[in-house]
Amino acid sequence: MHRCMLRFAEQHWQGSVRCMSSTVGKRRALRGLFPVLDLPLQPIQRHVYEANLRNSIACHKKYTEFREKVRKGGGENAISRHTQRNRKLLVSDRLKLLLDDEEFLELSPFAGLGLAYGDIPSAGCLTGIGRINGLWCVIIANDATVKGGTGYPITVKKQLRAQEIAIQNRLPCVYLADSGGAFLPLQSEIFPDKNQGGRTFYNEAIMSAMKIPQVAVVCGSCTAGGAIMPTMAEETVMVNRIGTIFLGGPPLVKAATGEEVTTEDLGGARLHAEVSGGVDHFAWEEKEAFTYTRNIISTLNFQLPEEEEDMKKRKAEEEPLYSSEELLGLAPQSYTYSLDVKMIISRLTDGSCFQEFKARYGTTLVTGFAKIHGNLVGIVANNGELSHEAALKGTHFIQLCDQRDVPLVFLQNTAPAAPLTLSTEQAEMNSNRLKAQGSMMSAVACAAVPKITVVIGGCYGADSYAMCGRAFDPNFLFLWPNARVSMTAPGHAASLLSPNDEQEDEQKKQEEKLNRRLEEESSAFFSSGRLWDDGVILPQHTRKVLSDSLDIIKQQQYQLSAEKLRPTLLRI
Ligand code: COA
Repeated sequence: MHRCMLRFAEQHWQGSVRCMSSTVGKRRALRGLFPVLDLPLQPIQRHVYEANLRNSIACHKKYTEFREKVRKGGGENAISRHTQRNRKLLVSDRLKLLLDDEEFLELSPFAGLGLAYGDIPSAGCLTGIGRINGLWCVIIANDATVKGGTGYPITVKKQLRAQEIAIQNRLPCVYLADSGGAFLPLQSEIFPDKNQGGRTFYNEAIMSAMKIPQVAVVCGSCTAGGAIMPTMAEETVMVNRIGTIFLGGPPLVKAATGEEVTTEDLGGARLHAEVSGGVDHFAWEEKEAFTYTRNIISTLNFQLPEEEEDMKKRKAEEEPLYSSEELLGLAPQSYTYSLDVKMIISRLTDGSCFQEFKARYGTTLVTGFAKIHGNLVGIVANNGELSHEAALKGTHFIQLCDQRDVPLVFLQNTAPAAPLTLSTEQAEMNSNRLKAQGSMMSAVACAAVPKITVVIGGCYGADSYAMCGRAFDPNFLFLWPNARVSMTAPGHAASLLSPNDEQEDEQKKQEEKLNRRLEEESSAFFSSGRLWDDGVILPQHTRKVLSDSLDIIKQQQYQLSAEKLRPTLLRI
């Protein structure tokens, strides 16, 4: 397994190094005048645009409700227990002390909402990517206002995904540890299996071996499983009279031996800094702990580009010709309300420029090159069914980007249901399409360049795999609030049921039931609650999210200590 992981690391290392060529040193990107996509909204499109806009406004309302739910964490009582009785800072205040600024790409903020075991705000653990001393770092922060920061199955899943992002993009990782360990009533779903609790610790070890730096701040009670994470980090800071690390707390000692001990004696900051040596920095208060942490990050061996150079580059970039707000009317409320996807592309790319590839072939897929905040990308966007020709074109373009080391951005809006095979002619078409889609899936899976997927409409059936769905390991996958995620779209349940002429009524009932279920289970919020993506983003924020994601992915080229990694891996 270890070898497997290292092989993955090696493959990825090669991929990442291949993507760095354009920015090392004082090199200059090649100039080119990509054609402008001058696509204003036409009067004939207005009724579709307005219907989409109404739907986007309704989705935004839901998005705001979810945001509010998450903001309240474990509720008023838990917050006052946390801040007043336990004298701890809230995660949001901790981030203010830790990060350079408010720029924080929060990952899956709605994870944990609407689950069978209830609403678990932020899945009890906030994750995201922010800058510390200019360096993008993954932050994994327990929220102790949610049941003492204990781990639910969704908490574990969220931590594992954040670690996976750190591994895939070689990002330093900072753990803000404040967790009572496993949420005991659900222990059977957290403890025993491969991708459960133990995997987070396994990952910590592997990440260290891969030279992905990890720092922990013990800013709360870390009990049992919660105690392992900070002790496995490479450097740990602990806050006096706030942080504790032990396997069982004072009540357990009292029950077992009758002895009364304080939490400080059992596992406080003094004990770990002076006796066990389990932590490396003793902080008198949280503020000091975060100053230490920022200093630790400054000792990581990265050499970032000069800020002025970066600013100059940004200033030279042109904004799209059209307002990003127009994306709200372009975000399809359903597949039949999709407008030309080039209208979406023109509202995302620098200067609305786009160098289209194979413009006249397989037109239900749009492929081509563009820049997003100066980053050259290859865009693959659905513009109808993923036909045989479209899939062949997709395969060709993905291989081209892979060969040129250009990151790929997928704009996914796949067809609601697979075409039925009702004639031999149709059977032939479907077989050809199947074969071509298989090739496209192979191209996506094997392309060693970074991939970012944004689901702008439907994420249905096998077409979604070819468009770099979750199972195809994109570096990031985001959804617009109008997105729908299911095998087949609501209203198309009949295609999933086998026809039964004799029991037509029963069949109808089953169909209605399945359609209702598809409707309920396909919303973007249902998906994000279960962590099938990295978060719901607003259409008008897409350009910024893509630009941040591309910067984040690119950062690995500045890690000097990783240069020695490749020969070590090859020897194993
Ligand atoms: N499993 C399930 N629920 C737990 C829990 C656990 N391991 N630990 C705490 N909780 C719940 C409490 O029942 C309480 O629920 P409530 O708000 O519905 O009353 C809530 O989390 C907060 O706990 P509380 O003790 O009131 O808050 P606190 O901030 O003072 O302390 C802990 C939090 C985690 C430090 C403390 O509860 C603790 O030490 N728990 C035991 C941890 C443990 O033994 N874990 C072993 C896991 S293998």
